[in-house]
Amino acid sequence: MNIAWERVIKPGIKFAVMLVSWPFWRFPVLNTMKREYVAVNSDRNGPFAMLMRWSFDHQFYKSNVAQRAALQDQFMGGDTGVTWADHYSSEPFPPDQNARYGDLKWSDVYRFVEILKDFLSRENYLFLQIGSSSGREIGYFAGLFPGSTFLGTDLYEDVCEFAASRYQLDNLDFVPCQAVDIAELIRNSAHRNVIVFSSGSLSYVFPEHVDEMFRQLSTLENIDRLILCFHEMGLTRNRPPDQVAGSLNVGNFTYSHNYRHYAGMNHIGVDERTSLIYPFITEENKRRHKDTCHYFFLSE
Ligand SMILES: C[S@@+](CC[C@H](N)C(=O)[O-])C[C@H]1O[C@@H](n2cnc3c(N)ncnc32)[C@H](O)[C@@H]1O
Repeated sequence: MNIAWERVIKPGIKFAVMLVSWPFWRFPVLNTMKREYVAVNSDRNGPFAMLMRWSFDHQFYKSNVAQRAALQDQFMGGDTGVTWADHYSSEPFPPDQNARYGDLKWSDVYRFVEILKDFLSRENYLFLQIGSSSGREIGYFAGLFPGSTFLGTDLYEDVCEFAASRYQLDNLDFVPCQAVDIAELIRNSAHRNVIVFSSGSLSYVFPEHVDEMFRQLSTLENIDRLILCFHEMGLTRNRPPDQVAGSLNVGNFTYSHNYRHYAGMNHIGVDERTSLIYPFITEENKRRHKDTCHYFFLSE
């Protein structure tokens, strides 16, 4: 029975699901129902939800860049993106000093806050955030450092408009721009000191685009200082995420990227504060994130 299950029944079911899932996910029919299962904020559980997500992930990760972008727009853009931004903005950033993240102190996990404040207190920068969503993080830094110029970017225009309506400061703007084009924004500006920051957004960027983004950033000219500061997640399932030659598929649109790898490929130095922070888990996310850690990356 075991052999029949492993060799015949299981592959048979997989094949049948794949056959049906290709047209099912590819064509925009039953979108409202599909979004309930695969939108990033879906809280559907149970065997049917698991089957839906499994078949979606299968379809998503085996598609090419253009097809993945279309699926991402279909399920992450529009109202879904704005709903998420609204959700993030309902949580204070940064939380109070004693806040915890699972077993850790919040400030030991989100190390970028003090590090960025230190950079910004020494010099004026063009500060760009990739995937700024709610705008709460860049809004916080913009409020503290009026001498620097802050530009929040996001894949979706609606999301940028939402952030702009929440955070109105003279030194802060929000523009739609995808991560792969971030170097172009820098090239078109007159600033010579630049910080590129991301918090939980590069995980949604396709590996092909992360690769190209690092390549483009490494070729910028007329820049005195370029700081890359990323707080993302890493997949720890088989080996630490900073030992992977590239990126891994995680599920639910996301990837675990090895930022050290992409930096090394493009001769970008890595600061010694770059680190993996364990555990990622909190009471609320322990089922979904049991094989996950925080990946803090800082360029030299
Ligand atoms: C998890 S949210 C970031 C939340 C943010 N740290 C906050 O606290 O508000 C990820 C954001 O990245 C954006 N995003 C996804 N892919 C992107 C890409 N390729 N380029 C730019 N932004 C992207 C999404 O639209 C989303 O708003």
